[in-house]
Amino acid sequence: MEYSRVFIVISPTAIVPKELVRGIASTTHRLDVILRSAIAALSQGNDIRRDTLFIGYASKSNTVIELRGNELKEIPFSEIELLNLILKRSIRGIQLYSFSLPELKKYLETLCKSTIYLKENGEPIDRVDLRTIPRPICWFLGAHIDVEPQQERILGLNKALRVSLGKISYMTYQCIVIVNRLLDKALSEV
Ligand SMILES: C[S@@+](CC[C@H](N)C(=O)[O-])C[C@H]1O[C@@H](n2cnc3c(N)ncnc32)[C@H](O)[C@@H]1O
Repeated sequence: MEYSRVFIVISPTAIVPKELVRGIASTTHRLDVILRSAIAALSQGNDIRRDTLFIGYASKSNTVIELRGNELKEIPFSEIELLNLILKRSIRGIQLYSFSLPELKKYLETLCKSTIYLKENGEPIDRVDLRTIPRPICWFLGAHIDVEPQQERILGLNKALRVSLGKISYMTYQCIVIVNRLLDKALSEV
């Protein structure tokens, strides 16, 4: 099955620990934001979004967390449960890669037909016809803090289409929930 959407969350601070830790938010420098975003991207009621790929990049450990909706057997409700699954390293549908940002960019070029960078100051999303944008669309987001300008340059986000969900600065997982709803609506009209 082809993916119709790929969410990529770049955290300038997060690390993926070697083992399960207490106080996940502080000890992993906010990996919880990536994990919560993954749960939001892949959950559809009690089911899993099979057409969705999630990629989280923990910059401080150069780790890519990839979750493939079409292979996962379950998506937990909590960040700590998801981290537990990720650290087992043998769960179908979950991959960890050690990538630099240029390597991540190359990898994404093999996946994405188009790129949208979600930014508060971008083009209002209601002016973008999501039905006509080639899929899979790769949706880039920052984490608890924005993607750093140097990271934007390396990933080519300085030249990407910037799209806004409105003037309010939402949490990353909230943006993903909104985009999933809008995409579901747009694709049901195709
Ligand atoms: C919590 S925000 C980042 C920090 C925020 N810019 C601040 O001032 O604290 C997380 C990410 O969600 C996305 N985002 C948040 N609100 C958005 C909006 N209204 N439109 C588009 N993207 C948004 C951006 O990618 C942003 O980097």
